[in-house]
Amino acid sequence: MKFKVSIAVAVVLAFAASEASSLALLPMPREVTLAEGTCASGAEPRIERVAGLPAEGYELSVRPDGVTIRASDAAGEFYARQTLEQLKDGATIPCCEIKDSPRFRWRGAHIDDVRHFMGKETVKRTIDEISKCKFNVLHWHLTDDQSWRIDVPGYPELLDYGDQFLSGEGQERLPEGPRAGRRFYTADDIREVVEYAAARHVKIVPEVEFPGHFFAALCAYPEFACDPEAVKKKGRLPMVRGIMREVMCVGNPDAVKFVESALDTVCDLFPSEVIHIGGDECPRTAWEKCAKCRALMEREGLSDVGDIQTWLTRRVVEYLAKKGRRAIGWDEMLDAKDGALPASTMGMRWHRKGAERTARAAAAGHEIVNCSNRFCYFDYSQGLEGDGYPYLGKRAITLEKAYSFDPLAELPEEAKDKVVGGQCCNWGECTFGRDDLEWKLWPRALAMSEVLWTYPDPQSRDFADFSRRAAIRRDAMVSRGVNAAPVKWLGLR
Ligand code: ACM
Ligand code: ZN
Repeated sequence: MKFKVSIAVAVVLAFAASEASSLALLPMPREVTLAEGTCASGAEPRIERVAGLPAEGYELSVRPDGVTIRASDAAGEFYARQTLEQLKDGATIPCCEIKDSPRFRWRGAHIDDVRHFMGKETVKRTIDEISKCKFNVLHWHLTDDQSWRIDVPGYPELLDYGDQFLSGEGQERLPEGPRAGRRFYTADDIREVVEYAAARHVKIVPEVEFPGHFFAALCAYPEFACDPEAVKKKGRLPMVRGIMREVMCVGNPDAVKFVESALDTVCDLFPSEVIHIGGDECPRTAWEKCAKCRALMEREGLSDVGDIQTWLTRRVVEYLAKKGRRAIGWDEMLDAKDGALPASTMGMRWHRKGAERTARAAAAGHEIVNCSNRFCYFDYSQGLEGDGYPYLGKRAITLEKAYSFDPLAELPEEAKDKVVGGQCCNWGECTFGRDDLEWKLWPRALAMSEVLWTYPDPQSRDFADFSRRAAIRRDAMVSRGVNAAPVKWLGLR
C-alpha cells in the first residue's frame, strides 16, 4: 500500500497519519510517498547526478535493497542526506519516495556578534544546526556601534574599542572572564568558519555597517566623524544603546577609503557573492552641520542631505561590482531617487510596515530578502511566561506567529518575484552567549526553515502538525546538546 504525504494536501496527510506519525520531517518535503517495508539505516546511499533537477533539489528513494539519492548539484545531495537522517528510526528507515526542492533561494539566519561576542565555536554550532534544516545563508553581523569584530589591516586601533554590551539587564548572564578586552575574529578564524559553512552548503554573508551604526569605528578613528570632538567626549567605551547621532563623515575621503579597505578585507576572506553593507538607521543631523559633507554635496551636485547616503551606497556598490560582488543593505538604504542605485543592489526588509517600501524597491528592480520584525526578530520574546531569558522590547513572536510568516504577504503580484527569501534575525543586545542564542533561535528557526523551504500554503498551514514534528526535531537537538526551548511551554525548563 502507498500513501502520499504532502503538506499541501491535508486530507491525505490525515489518512496517512498512522503511518506518517512517526515521520518527523522538517522542513516537510514537497512530496513524500510512503511504501511498505524498511531498509537498513547503515547502508551508504547510491548517488546519481541528474541534470535537470532543480537547484538544491533532490529525489530520495528508500527501498528494501538500498537508498538512492538523485540530485543535480552537491547541495541537493546534502539536503537529501539531511532528510535521510530525519527518516532514520533506529536501525531502519521506512521505505519511501521523496521529491523535494526549495521554494526560496535565500533561507537565512542572522547572528549579531557585535553586542556580545559569540566566538567561532558558537558560530560553527549554529551553522551545523541551521544546515540540518536546510538554511543556506548565515548573515554574520560583524560591526556596529558597540564593537568591530574583524581585523582590517592598516587600522589596528579598531580592535581596541568595544567589547561586551554592558548596559541593561541580564549582565549576570555573561560568561565568566574579563568583560573588556580585545575580542575579534582573525583572518584564520574567519577562513575556518567559512570553510566549515561551505561544507554544509551555508554561505556566509558578512556585514560591515556604515554610514550609521559606526560608532565603534569612530571611537578608534574620531577623524572619520563629522565632529571628532563629540565622539571623544562620549568616551572610549562605545557601550551605547539606541541610535547614535555620530555617523561616518562621508565628506572625508579618508573615511571612505577606510570603508573600502574594510570591504577589501571582507572580499578577501568571504567568497560570498553578496556582501551586506548595513545602511539602516543613519541620522543625517551631523552631515547637515559638517563643512566636509556640505562640500561633497556641492561637488557632486546633491540637492538633499539624504542623497549623501545614496552617493556613498552607489560608490560602494560599484566598488564591490568591480570585485564581482553584489551589495545588500537594510531596506532604507534603497530609499533613493529613481535609478540612483543599480538594480542589482539587494535589500533586506525589516520594518513592521515595510511592504510599501518593498514594493517600491521591487518595482525599481531590486531583489528583496524579507525579515520583517513582526515575524522574524527572534531576539523578541517568544511568549514563554517566566522562562527567565532577557528579550528585547515587549512584543512577542511566538512559535505559532513565526510559523505564520509569509514572505510574500501584502505585496502586489508583480513584486512577489523579487522576493528571494527570508531570514530570522537574532540581535544581540539581550543575547549574552550561546545558551541565550540557542534558546531564542529554536524552535522558532524550525518554523522559519519550513516557511522558506516548503512554503506551506499560508491559508491552510497546519500548526498542530508542524508542532508535532518540531517537538521531535527539538528533542533531537537537545540530545546533541543544543539549548532549544520546548515546543509546548509548561512553565518549566
Ligand atoms: C535593524 O533592525 N535596525 C535592521
Ligand atoms: Zn561630515
